[in-house]
Amino acid sequence: MLRSKTCGELNKTDVSATVTLAGWVHRRRDHGSLIFLDVRDRYGITQCVVNATENERAHRTASDVRNEFVVQVKGIVRERPSGTVNKNLPTGEIEVVIGEIAILNESKTPPFYVNEDSEVDELLRMKFRYVDLRRPSRQRFIEVRHEFVKYLRDFFSARGFWEVETTQLIRSDPTGARDFIVPSRYFPGKFWALPQSPQQLKQILMVGGIDRYFQIARIFRDEDPRADRIYEATQLDVEMSFPERDDVMAIGEEAYTGALERFGRKPVWRKPWPRMKYDDVMDRYGSDRPDLRFDLPLVDVTDTFRGTKFQAFRAGVDAGAVKALLIKGQADVSRKGIDVMTELAKRRGGKGLVHIGLTAEGLRSPVAKFFSDDEQKDLVRRVGASLGDLILIVADAQAHTAARALGEVRDHLGTQLDLIDDTTYRCVWVTDFPVLDRTPEGGWTFAHNPFSGVLESDVHLLDTDPGAARSKQYDMVIDGREIGGGSIRIHKRALQEKIFALMGTPKEEAAQRFGALLDALEYGAPPHGGFATGIDRSVMLLTGTANIRDTIAFAKTQTGYDPLLDAPADVDPALLEQLRLRVLPPK
Ligand code: AMO
Ligand code: AMP
Repeated sequence: MLRSKTCGELNKTDVSATVTLAGWVHRRRDHGSLIFLDVRDRYGITQCVVNATENERAHRTASDVRNEFVVQVKGIVRERPSGTVNKNLPTGEIEVVIGEIAILNESKTPPFYVNEDSEVDELLRMKFRYVDLRRPSRQRFIEVRHEFVKYLRDFFSARGFWEVETTQLIRSDPTGARDFIVPSRYFPGKFWALPQSPQQLKQILMVGGIDRYFQIARIFRDEDPRADRIYEATQLDVEMSFPERDDVMAIGEEAYTGALERFGRKPVWRKPWPRMKYDDVMDRYGSDRPDLRFDLPLVDVTDTFRGTKFQAFRAGVDAGAVKALLIKGQADVSRKGIDVMTELAKRRGGKGLVHIGLTAEGLRSPVAKFFSDDEQKDLVRRVGASLGDLILIVADAQAHTAARALGEVRDHLGTQLDLIDDTTYRCVWVTDFPVLDRTPEGGWTFAHNPFSGVLESDVHLLDTDPGAARSKQYDMVIDGREIGGGSIRIHKRALQEKIFALMGTPKEEAAQRFGALLDALEYGAPPHGGFATGIDRSVMLLTGTANIRDTIAFAKTQTGYDPLLDAPADVDPALLEQLRLRVLPPK
């Protein structure tokens, strides 16, 4: 090694030792005859010093050095003179008196400073990721991620799970998100797909008797990237044979409680984690990933408006629901504030947002005139409003749409009004999801994934009232973020085909698209189940960042571009020729 010690380990016990350090010049301070170099590596920073009268040669080299040059310093450790001790630095009691210094490499002036944690444009940081990564605050993410993944590997290995790598080149399937595809050279005109998850393969491993499987699996989904949704994500993927729902949830919960307690920023709120049914969280929080760090529950006021003359509420009363939120002390909310919230509600399918302020003069709202005295009184009583409060209302013919629209507003207010109590991790399991969701065209699609089992008590509903059937799906939600999900699977072909049929996929088509899994279910598939969690999202939770790209060594931008590699890019026309591909001009 070109060093005998790292830049983070020297202290008073090393005084008088001769050491060699190697690292980057974090900062150079030139006091004429005295030059200080702070030399930095992954482990820390050590102050090195050279005096022109004592060591002219080294002083000359040190004068040439600039920030981010790579240097090797040989010298003797000495105690810093009193008054110059730096209590904030683990090595702050010593310095190294430079005997020899060698420049191992020069550096251009970096596009931003490593030695300040200033805000830098993200695109620039991504393009110069190698400079960005030198910042201790950045390295922390890489470190936590490593520790977390190692912990998961140890955790599952210790419980009899085998890590199995499943193939990354699979068959394209139009369900779920859009596939990333890879052209095949041996089979011109045919394509591989990158997996959106190892779902079918892990189920097939169970049919193969592997019994307990896990994988730190890379997944690819060609969706529009969002705050916590990326093209290329990593999952902890788990599957086991012969479990009941509680067994899978218990093992996921144990793994995550342990990880949060070991690597997280705050304690876990309740152990065991509470479990909530989908209908209940939708009703109360308007979201299937409820943020329990603040209360602000939705209130059902459908009964208040049974006889209403206000047309906008009519369909909600007749077929769906009228939901309300009480916001304390916000009667004087600005026009702009209302517009933002209305926009959020609409983005989640709401048709509008009624706002009512409780003022000394009575209810203040553009639509208050449509409400009878009794309705006004009953509304105020039901939500528990008092003078100065604001009431927000959404009505919809679909109860869940009303709740979801207002739930979006609730999430917004949590941050906006600083309601979030971020002192504990609020973990919750959400269970009893519907098997099927309505499509905009009035058909059915799977609510989660088509492989989730159906609650025994509800199987008969598939024939009579499919929308009411609940699945064996469970979601892991922490601090309002969907961290993972899973289910006890369907392990019999007939039921699996029935689900596909309900979704409008005929037998023949299902057999073509999911042939391997469907066939496997006919050869002694054991009852099985599992889950997957997002590693990237988990590291967000552990470190507290709101930017998922922080957790990834080499991330894409939010527009799906890689500034470091300048990708995606053109390929050699000869390669296209071999693949028998031709690129059409952009539309
Ligand atoms: P699901 O699609 O819910 O389930 O994914 C499980 C978890 O993986 C993470 N995740 C993502 N994170 C960031 N960006 C993405 N594009 C992304 N996609 C998924 C999330 C999510 O909760 N096979 C099933 C699991 C199972 O049933 O066992 C599956 O993939 O944290
Ligand atoms: P309109 O009748 O469309 O002019 O709407 C009058 C007010 O009621 C506006 O503030 C709308 O945002 C609101 N509004 C309309 N439809 C709904 C609804 N379904 N739920 C809640 N508010 C609504």
